[in-house]
Amino acid sequence: NTKGIIFDLDGVIVDTAKFHYLAWRKMANDLGFDITLEQNEQLKGVSRVHSLEQILGWGNRTVSSTEFAQLMSSKNEDYLSRIAHMNDEDLLPGVKTILDFLTENHIPFALGSASKNARPILKGLKIEKRFKAIVDGNDVTKAKPDPEVFLIAAQKLDMQPEDCVVFEDSVAGVEAANRAGMTSIGIGDKEILKEADHNFNDFTEIYIDFIKQIIKK
Ligand code: G6P
Ligand code: MG
Repeated sequence: NTKGIIFDLDGVIVDTAKFHYLAWRKMANDLGFDITLEQNEQLKGVSRVHSLEQILGWGNRTVSSTEFAQLMSSKNEDYLSRIAHMNDEDLLPGVKTILDFLTENHIPFALGSASKNARPILKGLKIEKRFKAIVDGNDVTKAKPDPEVFLIAAQKLDMQPEDCVVFEDSVAGVEAANRAGMTSIGIGDKEILKEADHNFNDFTEIYIDFIKQIIKK
C-alpha cells in the first residue's frame, strides 16, 4: 500500500507563468497601466477571477460585470494562443522521470489545479491519460488556499487526505494542502514556500529514494 500523489499543474509540471504574465500584462497595458514581474508572483495559484480582481485593484480600475467577463475571456484567448504549441518537450525538468517512476510502479496520481485550461494543457504535454483523476478549476467552488480541490482529488484517488502528498509551487497551494491535512512539498523558493513540509527548487533535486520514502504508508 502506498500513498497517493497530487500534482499542481502551472509551475510544477509546466512553466506557464510567463504566458499568464504576458497575457495579463497586455490586457493591463490596453487598459492604460502596467504590471510587474513581482506582482505576477502574487498571481501564482490564484484563480482567474481573483487574478483579474487583483490586477484591476493594482490599476485602480473598476469595471462593470459585463466588461469583467469580457476581459477574462479575451485574456484567456490570448493566453491560449501563446501556449498553443506546447508539447511534451515543455514538461519542466525532472517531471518526466518522476511520472515514469510512478506509472511503472502503479502509484496513483492526480492533478489538483486552479486552472480551467488544465485538460487541454495536459493533452498538449501528452500526459493526460496517465492521471487517475484530474481535478481543476472547473470542478471547484472555492479557490486555493481553500483545500477543496485537493480533497476532491483525494476522494477520486480513493485515499484519505492524510495519505496524500501534494506538489505545489504557490503559497496559496501549499496552504491548501496543509489545510487538507496532506503532506506538502514546495517546488521553488524555500523562503517563499516556508509553510511546506519539504522543499525543493525543482524536480531535478528530487531523487526516487525520496519519493519511495514519502509514499510509504
Ligand atoms: C494556476 C496559475 C494561475 C492561474 C490559475 C487559473 O493556478 O498559477 O496563475 O490564474 O491557474 O488558470 P486558468 O488557466 O484557468 O486561467
Ligand atoms: Mg502552480
